[in-house]
Amino acid sequence: MSSQQPLAKLEDLFNPHTQAYCDNPVPQCRAVYGRGRLVFYEPWQAWIMTQLDDIMDCWREEYLSSDYYDWELAPERPPESEWGNFERALIGHSLVADHDHHRLVRKVAAPAFSRHVVDEIQRRIEPDIKRLFDQLGTPDVFDFKDEIAQHIPFISINRMIGVPEKYWEDIKPVTMRFTETWNPTIPAEQRATAVAECNNAIEVFKKVIADRRENPQDGDFLSVLIKVEAEHENFDEWDILTLLLALIGAGSDTTLMALQWTTYALLKHPDQISTALATPESFATAFSEVGRWGVISKMGFARYAPKDMEILGQSVKRGQMVLMMPHLYELDPAYFPEPETFDVTRTFDPDIRFGYGPRFCIGASLAKKQLHMTMSEMIKRFPNIELAQEPERDATDHNAIAFKNLLLRTNCHKN
Ligand code: HEM
Repeated sequence: MSSQQPLAKLEDLFNPHTQAYCDNPVPQCRAVYGRGRLVFYEPWQAWIMTQLDDIMDCWREEYLSSDYYDWELAPERPPESEWGNFERALIGHSLVADHDHHRLVRKVAAPAFSRHVVDEIQRRIEPDIKRLFDQLGTPDVFDFKDEIAQHIPFISINRMIGVPEKYWEDIKPVTMRFTETWNPTIPAEQRATAVAECNNAIEVFKKVIADRRENPQDGDFLSVLIKVEAEHENFDEWDILTLLLALIGAGSDTTLMALQWTTYALLKHPDQISTALATPESFATAFSEVGRWGVISKMGFARYAPKDMEILGQSVKRGQMVLMMPHLYELDPAYFPEPETFDVTRTFDPDIRFGYGPRFCIGASLAKKQLHMTMSEMIKRFPNIELAQEPERDATDHNAIAFKNLLLRTNCHKN
């Protein structure tokens, strides 16, 4: 007879939707990490991939699908006769669905993400960030989330794409709620509203593209993508539209969360601020440490099994979701000594904060630049800024550990 105790159910040890997880995710993450390389999690009907090497292999080899419609619990893939703008962008010419087309899009669109274009976009965003701080003035206390952070992704994405300001209000709903279009955990009506907003936004983008064809400009994504379209027969207007949606979908929530966590982490460790902000390179490392120390993620990165297959010794059924969770290994002292200590001088090798392989984040350098610029501007204006209180964490966010607000005391009226 075995003397071993049966293992506790994973859902009794790990539940990212609880307040306990949001307040301190570390013990719960460790409970999953210790369970094995690929662990089935009943409440989500999904597999969790825990180990760095396995995750990097999955990122690099792309043996799983990135197409949401391959998920067993996704809504039926509609026939082409029923496609609206949204479906045409996401299914017809999808950046996410087909690996070969995805690689082609990434390759031909690379000039739109070149250093020169990113530098130019940064130059355009800088006055917007300064204006936000001008509008803020010199209050004793302000909510960084409401007053600063939530405006920046919207402004940056519009500037990056090159959307004229007269269209910004039309685009706003989709930047706020695009991720709801495919979120299966929200009511169908809410999802339909988000799809309708997306359909409208695509109509606006079509107008912006038509304007731009008539009046060519320089130095933003759209201008470069229109040139790319003229030069490559396998890259058309729907590829541009899909890319624009991908930028919105992937660049809004991520940057909003990153701004809040960078502010929180640095103000919790004021002695490390000057090291963190000293150069773009030191900031890049500091930002990786913010993500590692804060944990932030609840679900990781989703992929779907394209067929019944054996993965890491487990039988995975066609359509099952596999969640890569690199935040788990980042709490392992074998990789990061004293993992609960925040240290902006740690070494990240590999640095997987922005993913890895063919689907490495398109917006990584822009994201780091806008974060660095915002933090530097804030510290320049308020050198003695501090947290006004420990922010309450919002357990209702489905994807990340979010703050309800982030109240900061400027101390700018102190002698
Ligand atoms: C600090 C903020 C950000 C973080 C931490 C981040 C992180 C990531 C990660 C980890 C991936 C890979 C996801 C996967 O493998 O499933 C990714 C992909 C992507 N990111 Fe970001 N990102 C950020 C900001 C942005 C911004 C600002 C943009 C653009 C405006 C952007 C655009 C994209 C796109 C389009 C993809 C998909 C790339 C593809 O499939 O080829 N991201 N990002």
